[in-house]
Amino acid sequence: MATSVGIFDSGVGGLTVSEALHRLAPALPQRYFADTACFPYGGRSDGVVAARALTLARRLVDEGCSLLIVACNTASSAALLRLRDELDVPIVGMEPPLKPAAARSRSGRVAVLVTAATARGSRLARLHDDHANGVDIETVPMPGLADLVESGEIRGDAVERTLREGLDGPLSRGVDQVALGCTHYGFLLPVLRGLLAESVDVLHAAEPVARRTVDRLEANGTPPPSSGRPEAVRCSATGDPDAFVLTIKRLRAAGAALPPIELLPREDEKR
Ligand code: DGL
Repeated sequence: MATSVGIFDSGVGGLTVSEALHRLAPALPQRYFADTACFPYGGRSDGVVAARALTLARRLVDEGCSLLIVACNTASSAALLRLRDELDVPIVGMEPPLKPAAARSRSGRVAVLVTAATARGSRLARLHDDHANGVDIETVPMPGLADLVESGEIRGDAVERTLREGLDGPLSRGVDQVALGCTHYGFLLPVLRGLLAESVDVLHAAEPVARRTVDRLEANGTPPPSSGRPEAVRCSATGDPDAFVLTIKRLRAAGAALPPIELLPREDEKR
């Protein structure tokens, strides 16, 4: 059977990574869990997020996935080390692209947009210590922003207002790099591009993570199929399936970049 990659997030955010991976390796089977029953992870404790991450990761391994992507900065911050300790498959995590942002900055000022849980986590503090290199890095928690995306809202007044509230201060202080530290925010790239001056770069880690995944599969001796029919991402949500379908429809209608998706029934509805 072809290698399959298991991916999870609290909701639709990880589909930004899924889409980047599908573009690189269209025939690679992907299995995706949106933990919408527990959304948003950003408002929860590390203990709760780690427990959910472990449950979902085990389910993906039980379903036969040979590599996992924790397509969520919040869950990677809370649980990546533990997942790697407890599971026997390679696991690729997410982290805010603070390192490339600091390296590219001409003004010496970077803003990193994150959930509240990622903001207080030790993983972000360590990234900062390791890669700031004298660059001033402002951590900007964005309460409510992932919620807007999760309801399918990726443009319009509420999104723009929330982004402005978070970014006006850092921009007035000369920030020239905005690093997206939550996978949900990847859907906001077009609106961010419209709001920000051309001199400000926006960095999202979806593509580098997709490339790292392909590298890991190759190193593992299970490279993605180089030809064959494109595979739809087999997707299910742990919460209300209708709400999830509606979000996907809204995202598509708003022009979001999404991979082809096959929606699976929830576990308890299969019987
Ligand atoms: N998409 C998730 C992340 O990358 C979290 C959103 C949330 O559940 O708060 O951090």
